[in-house]
Amino acid sequence: MKKGIELKINGDNYEVLISPNNTLLEVLRDKLGLMGTKQGCDLGACGACTVLINGEAYLSCIMLAMDAVGKEIMTIEGIEEDGLLHPLQTAFVEKGGLQCGFCTPGMILTAKTILDEEEHPTEDTIKKKMSGNLCRCTGYKKIVEAVMSVSEQTGEGA
Ligand code: FES
Ligand code: FES
Repeated sequence: MKKGIELKINGDNYEVLISPNNTLLEVLRDKLGLMGTKQGCDLGACGACTVLINGEAYLSCIMLAMDAVGKEIMTIEGIEEDGLLHPLQTAFVEKGGLQCGFCTPGMILTAKTILDEEEHPTEDTIKKKMSGNLCRCTGYKKIVEAVMSVSEQTGEGA
């Protein structure tokens, strides 16, 4: 049986008709057309579907959309600031932290949670906290360099 719910995504409210077993990833991509959140393994193993819920990273492929009702959801579409790329997005481009780009939205959102929590994380902390985000192009070195470069931009916030 379909059910109408309201989701708050990137500051906007969306009314959407879902099945109770729809994942948040299905609703974002298939019902709302927010294609920035990627479907990789669909099993909770790759991090491609990472979104932020109340500022924390969640895997939207293993989360029911209904469980996101009443919470602040952020997808990669919502990370820009006043029409400009977020510093992490700029850093990924400038440092070559992406190849095919499939893992990039999840990587950037996870990186945001790290920098929100700690302004200057160590390289080891970044590696550990991003270990759930897999890159099939294996560009990990440049990804970590990109996150480090933002953490070194003191006072600019991430
Ligand atoms: S698609 Fe969700 S963890 Fe891989
Ligand atoms: S850039 Fe291709 S999967 Fe990471």
